[in-house]
Amino acid sequence: MRKQIAAANWKMNLTLQEANELLDSIAEKNIQLSEDQIAVFAVPFPYLLLANDKLKNSKGYLVAAQNCFTKESGAYTGEVSAPMLASCNVGYVIIGHSERREYFNENNFTLSQKVDVCLSNNLKPIFCCGESLAIREGGTQNGYVETQLKESIFHLEASQIENFVIAYEPIWAIGTGKTASADQAQEMHAHIRNVFAEKYGNEVANSISILYGGSVKANNAKEIFGKPDVDGGLVGGASLNASEFGLIIQSLKN
Ligand code: 13P
Repeated sequence: MRKQIAAANWKMNLTLQEANELLDSIAEKNIQLSEDQIAVFAVPFPYLLLANDKLKNSKGYLVAAQNCFTKESGAYTGEVSAPMLASCNVGYVIIGHSERREYFNENNFTLSQKVDVCLSNNLKPIFCCGESLAIREGGTQNGYVETQLKESIFHLEASQIENFVIAYEPIWAIGTGKTASADQAQEMHAHIRNVFAEKYGNEVANSISILYGGSVKANNAKEIFGKPDVDGGLVGGASLNASEFGLIIQSLKN
């Protein structure tokens, strides 16, 4: 089975003390993961080393960054590079979250550069895609998401795609309390997998974990994750609560 992943995206939340407490509470829950399951924690940059340390004895619990810069080093004040993240034992990097696209003008081309710099530093991208409400209402979401994937990822070789996680996050469902229905998620995930299959073949397409993101909570995770092409979730608000996120981890397929 491809990896089933519960990924926490803390976004720009929590002080150091709060981060400490949340990581301790999660580690204390001691939720055991199967070989095919992982839990990923995308914490703010200052907490990466702390998170790695707190989770080091929890098998299958990994740390992610929420972003990285396109260049490997140099005079780019305030940026964080992929080699820096790799040297801090970070396994994954969220690339192209809709908040970065919207507030920091990241476009499909910038994101293709970020994907490249991650892969050349052995970091696995959690590549986000997803449409706005206007696009969904216009019924053109499939083509829109396909273009996001093609313009940022399809220059890669099949062997590089195996290192990818895709997160489908419809913007209208992020932080709104309004989830896509499990059927809407499944429909888009099947489409995404099909787009990969057409370019890279079925074997590669079937190996990619595709996560759903957008108001995933403990009370809807099981239904959404139960769909055949949904391999877990990328979770914002509900990942800031240890009990809630613990239940979400336990909703993964096994
Ligand atoms: P919420 O779970 O808060 O809707 O956020 C989703 C998200 O953006 C995860 O990256």
